[in-house]
Amino acid sequence: MRNASVLLCLIAIFILGCGQDEPVTPQDLFAFNQPEHFPPPAYDLENDPITRAGVELGIKLFNDPRLSADRSVACSNCHAQAVAFADPQHRLSQGVNDATGTRNAPQITNLVFMSEFFWDGGVSHLDFVPINALESPVEMGNTLAEAVDFLQSDSDYPALFRAAFGTDTITSGLMLKAFSQFTNLLVSDRSKYDDVVLGRNNASFTADELAGKQLFDQHCSSCHTPPLFTSQGYANNGLDSTFTDEGRAAISGNPLDLGKFRIPSLRNVARTAPYMHDGRMATLPATLQHYNDGIIQSPTLAPELQSGIPLTPTEQEQIIDFLNTLTDWEFMSDERFN
Ligand code: HEC
Ligand code: HEC
Repeated sequence: MRNASVLLCLIAIFILGCGQDEPVTPQDLFAFNQPEHFPPPAYDLENDPITRAGVELGIKLFNDPRLSADRSVACSNCHAQAVAFADPQHRLSQGVNDATGTRNAPQITNLVFMSEFFWDGGVSHLDFVPINALESPVEMGNTLAEAVDFLQSDSDYPALFRAAFGTDTITSGLMLKAFSQFTNLLVSDRSKYDDVVLGRNNASFTADELAGKQLFDQHCSSCHTPPLFTSQGYANNGLDSTFTDEGRAAISGNPLDLGKFRIPSLRNVARTAPYMHDGRMATLPATLQHYNDGIIQSPTLAPELQSGIPLTPTEQEQIIDFLNTLTDWEFMSDERFN
């Protein structure tokens, strides 16, 4: 009986994969896969479905410095896959003509689940993010119209737009859709943390990681809320008392938002140094030290940070051990993204 079922299983493996998931076809690799422990997408994917041709176009655009005014700066100059599409080299971003921006380039992960972007939430639709990058004088210094003219006159792009969208008449709208297809595919859900939460790969936390998780749940998760490790809200986490960058208040006009910034996701955070909106902190221990005894009082300081988050050196290390479990190595080497 047992031998017979083994044989049946072997035959079934051959035909069906023996109860495993259906074999993945190349096309499926470029579909959006909803992680079961994540919220539903905030982006309307029906309006811009992810396709292989669209993503490949998006990646080519993302890596193309010719979209910038002096043809020297691509999106990927400031957003590198090896560090979850953050910028490991610059505290403040560096654009065309050696211009220095005012903020640190954030990682680009899981944005399909988010509804506001930039450190101040100043952009409220993912499709509009690249406009700012292309046109900002401290990033790519170009105009949308010139970028589109360049693409239309290029020898490769019209055919790529035809493959992705069925037309070789290039518009800024289609270009932005190609960027969004690529960005929407950038889902990071394959860290050790995810394995443990989903019971995948027999993963389990070490004693220190578990202790770190408990401390994190107690002190950090009200803002850096799982599973995205951001509540998607805004807070002043005590960096300053006078604000050269007004943060959220520059967008809302509300003085109660002065010095509040979008709460960053801590997924892959071990890879995304330097930290904070202006990259002022170089290491994770420095950020823990900040919460421990570096909190600066101001009228808009978050209530839960009024007396800091006192943690022993061991506890700080345990939190960092836990944060390390949020690193998604498969994401950072995923060949679909390059
Ligand atoms: C010169 C460096 C630089 C270049 C080039 C650049 N970016 Fe960025 N990017 C940044 C910075 C800095 C921010 C944060 C801006 C802010 O908060 O004001 C950002 C923010 C973003 C975000 C939002 C992330 C979030 O969580 O809010 C996305 C998406 C993004 N960039 C995509 C792109 C794309 C697509 C391109 C190319 C068209 C591009 N970037 C080019 C520096 C750069
Ligand atoms: C009241 C909300 C709040 C709490 C509680 C909080 N944070 Fe933050 N955290 C923020 C905000 C807001 C920022 C971004 C601030 C900025 O750049 O101006 C941030 C930034 C960070 C960063 C830098 C991330 C990056 O990509 O630059 C790290 C690391 C971090 N927090 C870790 C923690 C840890 C660990 C705890 C618990 C010990 C914690 N935070 C508690 C709101 C909070």
